[in-house]
Amino acid sequence: MGPANPRESQAPQDNTRRIGSKQDLVAGIREARRRLAADGPPRVRSGADFERVSVPVADSDVLRDLLLAEKPGTVIEIGLAYGSSALAIAEALAAAGPDEARHVIVDAYQKHFHGSGWAAIAGAGLAGLCSLVQERSQIALPRLLSDGFVADAAFVDGSHIFHNVFVDLFYLRELVRPGGLVILDDCSYPSVATAARYFEVNTGWQREPIAAPTRLRAFRLPKPRAEPDFKSFRPFGLDATG
Ligand SMILES: C[S@@+](CC[C@H](N)C(=O)[O-])C[C@H]1O[C@@H](n2cnc3c(N)ncnc32)[C@H](O)[C@@H]1O
Repeated sequence: MGPANPRESQAPQDNTRRIGSKQDLVAGIREARRRLAADGPPRVRSGADFERVSVPVADSDVLRDLLLAEKPGTVIEIGLAYGSSALAIAEALAAAGPDEARHVIVDAYQKHFHGSGWAAIAGAGLAGLCSLVQERSQIALPRLLSDGFVADAAFVDGSHIFHNVFVDLFYLRELVRPGGLVILDDCSYPSVATAARYFEVNTGWQREPIAAPTRLRAFRLPKPRAEPDFKSFRPFGLDATG
């Protein structure tokens, strides 16, 4: 698994650990995704947990395709679990990102998943491209911000509690560069949708059209970054704004 001490995960990335050519790496990630979807992880927390918590393959493909079009250099993801979305993000970065591409994954509870997500990442030869911060995102994101970390895109699938999602998005608004993309899973939950709605209604996040049917939602951040006047605050609850 990734570093036990979350601060270790901030260490400079070692690109020499990437295995083989770009094509080999992408082929290996695709095979890892296929195997994970077909066979599931080696260990699960309980019964149908893998199916319950993972982003489904079709939505993971949507995530990959959004990022393939975006060609980001750095992606931050919250919520590794068994690794389905992480492998899809890594596929896009390996296929279309620069040689120095980075995928920073934040997951506080990877040990509850028996390390399966990180094992899938490492097994696909991605221990160089990806790093894992084993800490609550609400603690890790402000530190990444003060460290000067900047991402081109983010994927949010961590805690679904309203105040945690809100805090994640608060920090991602600063961590993702102006004009970058924030993608969320599970906006069918009012807790997640309401948190996202604040940033759409009050901070200029624009809904990014997604051609394929999906449960994901994507937002384009304004460029340049704009700070709203407190007097222009608009109520943002789903009931209040429709
Ligand atoms: C729904 S699962 C993510 C599924 C994953 N995206 C996939 O496709 O397999 C939620 C994940 O968020 C993590 N998590 C929950 N609360 C968190 C928090 N406050 N900070 C960081 N990670 C958190 C859990 O450990 C779990 O791995």
